[in-house]
Amino acid sequence: MKPVSPARSPAAARAARAAGNATGALGAPDLDWAPPAVGTGATTPLWLVGLFGVMLYWATMYLDRNGGGFNPLVFNQGELLADLEARVPRSEADALLAQGRRVYNVYCSACHQPNGRGTPNQFPPVAGSDWVLTEGPNRIIRIVLNGMQGPITVNGNQYNNVMLPWRDQLSDEDIAAVVTFIRGNAEWGNNAGPATPAQVKAIRDATASRSTSWTAQELLGIPVKD
Ligand code: HEC
Repeated sequence: MKPVSPARSPAAARAARAAGNATGALGAPDLDWAPPAVGTGATTPLWLVGLFGVMLYWATMYLDRNGGGFNPLVFNQGELLADLEARVPRSEADALLAQGRRVYNVYCSACHQPNGRGTPNQFPPVAGSDWVLTEGPNRIIRIVLNGMQGPITVNGNQYNNVMLPWRDQLSDEDIAAVVTFIRGNAEWGNNAGPATPAQVKAIRDATASRSTSWTAQELLGIPVKD
């Protein structure tokens, strides 16, 4: 007959073995003893899996909607603040300067260069130019409206080339903006006063019948301001 072991639980078995060893007797082998089962045998409820799924979905949507696409404009705010401030006009004159920069980059910088220094013997500079930094903008508004050609001396250097008219491409506001930009561009060291759309309109109307470019000689006969 199979001996019945009183020790079924692992703790009781351990106690029985310890007691056996303490008296020096060899305890009867516990045939029924089994190692404790690993895990509890419980299964994950389906609703919990579903809940995690919903939470993951929500989190993804939340990041997608509020994460700004990991755009540097959103995430490097400090770094871009100066850039942003430069773009947001603070006054009307500031807005005209920003528009003037855009007009200059599109219509003028190919020849006069992004830094305003022109190209030696070909395109005169507008940065530091004695034609640009006159007291009033009367001459350079005319240059932009009708273009100019023939010999011109800019800051002591001779040029003899052609600049095409922009009368039909640029509005009064565009011309006022670009003239304001080149005259007042502190990055180039220019600090002359602005031009207004009304000034451009007045000159556009007064020269409406003119179809030819200006020469430097003619322009020098025109007062720099009204
Ligand atoms: C295709 C090349 C070209 C483009 C584009 C051009 N210019 Fe000019 N610009 C010239 C040349 C060449 C002269 C000198 C003409 C001459 O020799 O008589 C000149 C002269 C000038 C002058 C007088 C001289 C000076 O340098 O101060 C001003 C001011 C000027 N341009 C402004 C502008 C503005 C503003 C724009 C854009 C709306 C513009 N230019 C676009 C070629 C160009």
